Amino acid sequence: MKKFKRYTVTSALPYANGPVHIGHLAGVYIPSDIYTRYLRIKGQDVISVCGSDEHGVPITLKAKKEGITPQQVVDRYHKIIKDSFKEFGIEFDIYSRTSNKIHHETAAEMFRTINEKGGFIEKTTKQYYDTEAKQFLADRYITGTCPHCNYEAAYGDQCEKCGTSLSATELIRPKSAISGAKPSLRETRHWYLPLDKSQAFLEKWILEDHKDWRPLVTGQCKSWFQTGLQPRAVSRDLDWGVPVPAKNAEGKVLYVWFDAPIGYISATKEYTPDWEKYWKNEDTKLVHFIGKDNIVFHCIIFPAMLKSAGDYILPENVPANAFLNLEGNKISTSKNWAVWLHEYLRDFEGQQDALRYALTAAAPESKDNDFTWRDLQAKNNNELTAVFGNFVNRAAVLTQKYYNNKVPQPNAFNQEDEAVFEKLVAIKAKIENNIENYHFRAALKEMMQAARIGNKYLADSEPWKLVKIDPERVKTILYVALQITATLAVLCEPFLPFTAVKLKKILSTNFLNWENAGTKNILPTGHTIGKAELLFAKVEDAQIEAQMKKLSQAKKNNQMENKSIAAQKATISFEDFSKADIRTGTILEATKVPKTKKLLKLLVDTGLDTRTVVSGIAEYYKPEEVLGKKVSILINLAPRKLKGIESQGMILMAEDAEGKLIFITPQGDAKNGTEVN
Ligand code: MF3
Ligand code: ZN
Repeated sequence: MKKFKRYTVTSALPYANGPVHIGHLAGVYIPSDIYTRYLRIKGQDVISVCGSDEHGVPITLKAKKEGITPQQVVDRYHKIIKDSFKEFGIEFDIYSRTSNKIHHETAAEMFRTINEKGGFIEKTTKQYYDTEAKQFLADRYITGTCPHCNYEAAYGDQCEKCGTSLSATELIRPKSAISGAKPSLRETRHWYLPLDKSQAFLEKWILEDHKDWRPLVTGQCKSWFQTGLQPRAVSRDLDWGVPVPAKNAEGKVLYVWFDAPIGYISATKEYTPDWEKYWKNEDTKLVHFIGKDNIVFHCIIFPAMLKSAGDYILPENVPANAFLNLEGNKISTSKNWAVWLHEYLRDFEGQQDALRYALTAAAPESKDNDFTWRDLQAKNNNELTAVFGNFVNRAAVLTQKYYNNKVPQPNAFNQEDEAVFEKLVAIKAKIENNIENYHFRAALKEMMQAARIGNKYLADSEPWKLVKIDPERVKTILYVALQITATLAVLCEPFLPFTAVKLKKILSTNFLNWENAGTKNILPTGHTIGKAELLFAKVEDAQIEAQMKKLSQAKKNNQMENKSIAAQKATISFEDFSKADIRTGTILEATKVPKTKKLLKLLVDTGLDTRTVVSGIAEYYKPEEVLGKKVSILINLAPRKLKGIESQGMILMAEDAEGKLIFITPQGDAKNGTEVN
């Protein structure tokens, strides 16, 4: 194992076009905060950098819609986001922003360095142009129908329905997002990062030298490698962003995904003049905390940029998380299906640690996971309050009552006492090991285990009864209980920073540290503790019901929007209809089409033959669920290629108000090949 002298921890820069929700917190900012807090307590040299990502088309579109400037948009959200992080105890050493001068300079310099080394290629291509608005339509300025899944509101860079990344010219029926007009193609010249040339290096670096990365991360990289990396444009024809520092670059800015990760470096520069050691010293460990939609940028593109610029270190790990769902559904800003941090703070005053705890326990570390309000309530009331809080309170109150707040002098430890100390030492080691390997859920469980041990220790030994019979033994019991409490104050800090502060106040200590946690005399005899106070407040049913009501209102609003049943289409003749050859058939085989979310490759017995059909149903059906299913299939649809697979027909499906697809299955026992008229 390589030894590192210092750590640079980055957290994905949130887009300053909206507030932050619990998905962001669970996926990126809580894990990075646990990691850095832990390193800080251990006395490591660590910096945690973040900031607002203030460029990109969604921001200019929002500004246009609201009739304000992009700078006004980012000023508003930068403040909201920064405040939310602070209130949740997400402790960055610096929270910067990419509209800062220092960032513009740093990003421009990085571009110049790579350019001077011949690290870009320049290419002229045809891109969509809006003749009414007189501007090129980069990325989200253009919408259209996705060629893979037929989703009608796909963007010029990505289809959000099936997750495929697109280039604008692939869109069917492209439309300008500014004027709605049909765009025309116009020549334009741009700088490209030739990722194809970095592929060999990246493959070795990720697949051979970093076998310890999460499978979620390595899996995505592998699939990019399999497709083959392509040169990527790093400039855009836009007027919001970092101007391209080159000749003949008027009206061109750096692509937001080129400048944003450089924001980590600019933030470090803003934080300390000694920034270079955090980015250029081989004995610095660089770790990027991100969500899974950011993997390609942090594992492939940014490393390729750093490598071409020369003398930068590359990330040692990129512990990306999957997505957090909310009450069984995907978090969605546009559907208002989210829990916004600034709203939580208002509705659950002083209960930040409850959310930190619930989100860490439900962290989507290997796959998407669900957050529910009932779960938050149960975790807070049954674990934090009933176990952790109860234990600490008993220990403090009894010390107050029996010993006038002074840690008593213990007698000889018995077997149970020794066992408690041994378990604490083991738990501390497991927490260390889990955090260092980015297993934050497991680390949290261990921390809670320490509280459970304490709670059980007092419940089993019942000092409140024993005090009349054997007061000497009670001294030892409370001494041990106070040692557990002090250890908890240290171990809980990365996860529950507000609780740690309260607990240290209750214990009246400022000398606890990671080293002495778990030892037999972290809190010495004779030390005077402070006043007992409750660590956690209960989450009441009414609080949960209010949140559920908010969500069901959001659901109703969305359904109203969706419910509008499609209008009848234009009349067709019987001849037109009879051209469609629809048969009954049976699905014989089904597999997921790799690298897509929606597509299943099916082998269907049509009665006439068995043929391959690619069907966009994977979001609703697992392959094994459709095996043997009777279906109606349009067999004389012109074959078309989807993801390189020729689809020879179409399975007929009904689509309900929520977009769920339902099979049109013949009733009774129609033989395969029976005509449907
Ligand atoms: N703003 C991006 C997002 O929210 C993340 C940018 S991360 C950075 O998906 F590395 F580019 F900064
Ligand atoms: Zn799509």
